[in-house]
Amino acid sequence: MTNDHRTFLATAVRAAHAAGKIQQFYVDGDLEIDTKSNETDLVTHADKLCEERIREIILSEHPEHVVYGEEGGQDGESRWRWIVDPIDGTTNYAQGFPFYCVSIGLEIDGVMEVGVVFDSAHNDLFTAVRGEGAYLNGAPINVSSEPELIKTVLATGFAYSEDVISENIEIFARVHPKVRSVRRPGAAALDLCYVACGRLDGFWELKLNAWDVAAGWLIIQEAGGTVTGPAGEPYSFDSRVVVATNGHIHLKLVNLLGLAQLHDDKQATA
Ligand code: IPD
Ligand code: CA
Ligand code: CA
Repeated sequence: MTNDHRTFLATAVRAAHAAGKIQQFYVDGDLEIDTKSNETDLVTHADKLCEERIREIILSEHPEHVVYGEEGGQDGESRWRWIVDPIDGTTNYAQGFPFYCVSIGLEIDGVMEVGVVFDSAHNDLFTAVRGEGAYLNGAPINVSSEPELIKTVLATGFAYSEDVISENIEIFARVHPKVRSVRRPGAAALDLCYVACGRLDGFWELKLNAWDVAAGWLIIQEAGGTVTGPAGEPYSFDSRVVVATNGHIHLKLVNLLGLAQLHDDKQATA
């Protein structure tokens, strides 16, 4: 690992721990819940405080970098871009349902180089640096080795827009009978990390943002898994659709989801 990467990882971990502290401080108090795109899309006082603190830490340690955060957007351009979800799983957080996290990824010249996801309710810290493997609380992690769909446990998530929810319910109904079970935990960044450490064998979602995926994408890759868009093509933030698996079931899941058409339509209109 280069010294720079070591420093960036340390910054990400510091920022994630600081956000985790804020999350735990406020979780049982008055969260000042507000809504964003619609009545079901929540934001709390803690989301904003976490992002502010993360920005403060990153920019004080690396003033030439930029932060792209869910709540505050991005100011300016830089070779170094930190992609931040201050609380992923805000609906769970607002309910006191302990499945949420902070997600911080660092992109350098457009390539994800560092990823950190911190589950503050359980003190689980997932980390990865490109080429250096993935870790949970300092111990190496790997994706599962299950090749048979019927023996896999998958997860999915539902974006906040009604059309995407309906489409995914139809897919959910089709996929569920073909696998051992499907979960809907409610925090995409953590779902990705659960694939990385073998707690899940795969995950898909139809409409995710860069801040949901940035860190978990690298963590899964470094744990030996596969992350693609809807037709099995390399994932990019523009895909919005994410299919993430242990690799062994990837093509089977891509085929079962039947989302390739979505990719083809996009290509045709591009
Ligand atoms: C959401 C969660 C959820 C996923 C949604 C995301 P947020 O993020 O990751 O699991 O299904 O699509 O928007 O709003 O809690 O940061
Ligand atoms: Ca999110
Ligand atoms: Ca969020």
